Amino acid sequence: MNQEELRRQLQQLPRLPYYLAPSPLYPLPRLNKVLTRAAPEIWIKRDDELGPAFGGNKGRKLAYIMADVLIQGKRKVITYGGLQSNHARMTAAACAALGLEAHLFFFARKPPQLTGNLLLNQLLGARMHFIPFGGGGDAFLTLEATNRLVQLVARPRTGRSAYFMPVGGHNVTGCLGYVEAACEIHEQVQSQNLPPEKITILTAAGTGGTLAGLMAGFALLNSPIRVLGIDIGKLWKRFPQSIARLANELIKTLHGKKRFAIDDVPLIERTYAGPAYAQPHPPAIEAIRLLARQEGILLDPVYTGKAFAGLINLVAHGRFTAGDILIFLHTGGFPSLWAYADSLL
Ligand SMILES: Cc1ncc(COP(=O)(O)O)c(C=O)c1O
Repeated sequence: MNQEELRRQLQQLPRLPYYLAPSPLYPLPRLNKVLTRAAPEIWIKRDDELGPAFGGNKGRKLAYIMADVLIQGKRKVITYGGLQSNHARMTAAACAALGLEAHLFFFARKPPQLTGNLLLNQLLGARMHFIPFGGGGDAFLTLEATNRLVQLVARPRTGRSAYFMPVGGHNVTGCLGYVEAACEIHEQVQSQNLPPEKITILTAAGTGGTLAGLMAGFALLNSPIRVLGIDIGKLWKRFPQSIARLANELIKTLHGKKRFAIDDVPLIERTYAGPAYAQPHPPAIEAIRLLARQEGILLDPVYTGKAFAGLINLVAHGRFTAGDILIFLHTGGFPSLWAYADSLL
């Protein structure tokens, strides 16, 4: 379908105006000089600038999910994530702005000091529940099974009627936001006269919703723009299956025909995830320093640092060649930098 038709369908769906789109898309000349000389050209798309309370990719998802919360007349919202979850922080902000109670679940011991995103959650008035058992994401469970388990644990603490938001906003409602982002990128690529068949968008994959939304969006548009997800945490059993399922549900919801098989999911699993989710490793720290010092842009140690380290490694190994354009999708996350001061100094 063409972009007008896709935009028309998306505009008919309820969403809240959390951010001003489009997010900026521009090249990184100093980085390109250091990293690639002639090939490929690296650009950045600044979704870290979108959404409430310091922004990030969850702004696009929350715009649709919080509209659904209001339609359902819910007063309490449950979600969960790792201790430095940006999703939790942005959900807390979205709830505060709507006068709703945010209940954030962390399956870890309460740290002696609340830093980074945890500090922001507290400022935003969220209720934080710390439950020290290995709940959210350990690769023994699928993402869907983990969501079911967390609901069982959370609901008795919040009341049965609270709205449950899956980890990372990973559902059809939320990931419509990244179908919309695909439209936005498609339009920016056209207006900047870039060759779409040469473009790959590289993104961190935590729950894979951003990746699924982009896959669905470009498929709906019959666009040759490719997407590549970098797994940052080895979190989920049968991860590509969850991503393919979500992308297919999105396409079906928007009346498209294409279906992705599991092997079609463009995800590099495990290779760049470091020792574990939320454990930074030297390549991620180096990647954070490089982009900060060459372009004045801040990444984070949990998501974007690992994904950017993947980009650097792929470029070094010739995965992309002259004429290719690599767009790094900056999905946010910098508030967690403070929680990792020891690794960064
Ligand atoms: C900064 C940042 N980047 C990337 C991601 C991954 O996005 P997704 O869960 O859609 O894969 C997240 C959250 O999970 C995030 O907070």
